[in-house]
Amino acid sequence: MTSLSSPPATLPIAFDRTRRLRASPALRRLVRETRLTPAAFVAPVFVVSGHDRHEPIASLPGQARLSPDRVVLLARELAELGVGGLLLFGVPEEKDARGTGAADPDGPVPTALRALRATDLPLALMADVCLCEYTSHGHCGVIADGRVVNDETLPLLAEAAVAYAAAGADIVGPSAMMDGQVAAIRSGLDGRGFIDVGIVAYACKHASAFYGPFRDAAGSAPSFGDRRGYQMDAANGREALREMAIDAAEGADMLMVKPALTSLDLLVKARKRFDLPLAAYQVSGELAMIEAAAERGWIDRRAAALETLTAITRAGADVVITYFAAAASRWLRELEQPR
Ligand code: PBG
Repeated sequence: MTSLSSPPATLPIAFDRTRRLRASPALRRLVRETRLTPAAFVAPVFVVSGHDRHEPIASLPGQARLSPDRVVLLARELAELGVGGLLLFGVPEEKDARGTGAADPDGPVPTALRALRATDLPLALMADVCLCEYTSHGHCGVIADGRVVNDETLPLLAEAAVAYAAAGADIVGPSAMMDGQVAAIRSGLDGRGFIDVGIVAYACKHASAFYGPFRDAAGSAPSFGDRRGYQMDAANGREALREMAIDAAEGADMLMVKPALTSLDLLVKARKRFDLPLAAYQVSGELAMIEAAAERGWIDRRAAALETLTAITRAGADVVITYFAAAASRWLRELEQPR
C-alpha cells in the first residue's frame, strides 16, 4: 500500500507503458494489427495425369502430386476451410525441348481445371504458366546456342495461358521471368476472347536457393547451368520495383513477389508504390525449413508457420500463396480463442 507519507519505491520518471495492452489474451486480440484469414491464402497444387493418384513429395511434407480427381477432393476440403484459391502446377509424363506439353489441352492442368470448374466451388482457380516443368532441359524457355531465348518463348507461354483459360482458369500466373511475358499473354488471351481472365505477374522472382523442393516435386531442375540469366539477382531491390512497374504497365492484374520471407522489404515498398493487389509466394524451401526444424523438435511448427504468414501479411501482402494454406486455416480455427 502506498501512502502519502511513504516515498515511492521508484523515482517518478516518465516513460510509456506499452505492456498495458499486452496484459491479457483479450487485450492482445483486441489490438492485434494483422489478422490472418484463410480467404487470403492460395494453395499451390502439383497435378499429374491419370486417376486416383496421390504421390507424397518427400521434400514437401504434407504435399503430394495429385491426379485431377484427387485435386477436386482437395479443393472441396480447401473450400470448406475458407481458403481463397488454388494455384496449379503441372507435372507431365513426357517432356520435350520446347515444353509443348505446357499448352496441351489434355495435360494435367487443363484436365484438373475443367474438373474444378464443374464443381463450382468458391475458389479462385489459378494456373502457373511456365515451361520448366515441361522442358526436357528444365529451363523456363526455349534454348538456342546454350541460352534461354526470350522472344521465341513468349508465344509458347501465351499458348499455355490460352489453354488454361479455355479450361476454366480465372487467373494465370506467368513465372518464366521472360521479358514481355505479361504483354504476350495478355494479347494472347484477349485475341482468343479471354478478356476476363486475369494475370498475376511473378513480377519479382529472385533466382533463389529456396525453390529446391519444388524442383524435386516437379522434376524441373535445370539439366545445365542455372536460372540466373532470367530470374532476378536477390541483391536487387530497385530492379525488383522496376520489374513490377513493367508488369503493371503490361497489364498485370496482380503483382507477386517471391520468395516471400526474403522479400519483405519489397512488399513494403510495393505496397506504397502500386495500387494493384499484391501477392507473396511462400515458396517450397520456406516450408521445408520450418518442417525440417519442427521434425527435429527445434521449432514449434504451428507458431513458426503462423508467424511467417503474419509477417508476410504485415509487410503488405494481400494474398499469400503458401503450402500451409490448409494447415494454417485449420490452425486459425483452433486459435479462435484469444491468445
Ligand atoms: C516455375 C516455378 C518455380 C516455382 C514457381 N514457379 C520453380 C523455379 O523457378 O525453379 C517455385 C515455387 C516453390 O519453390 O515453391 N518456374
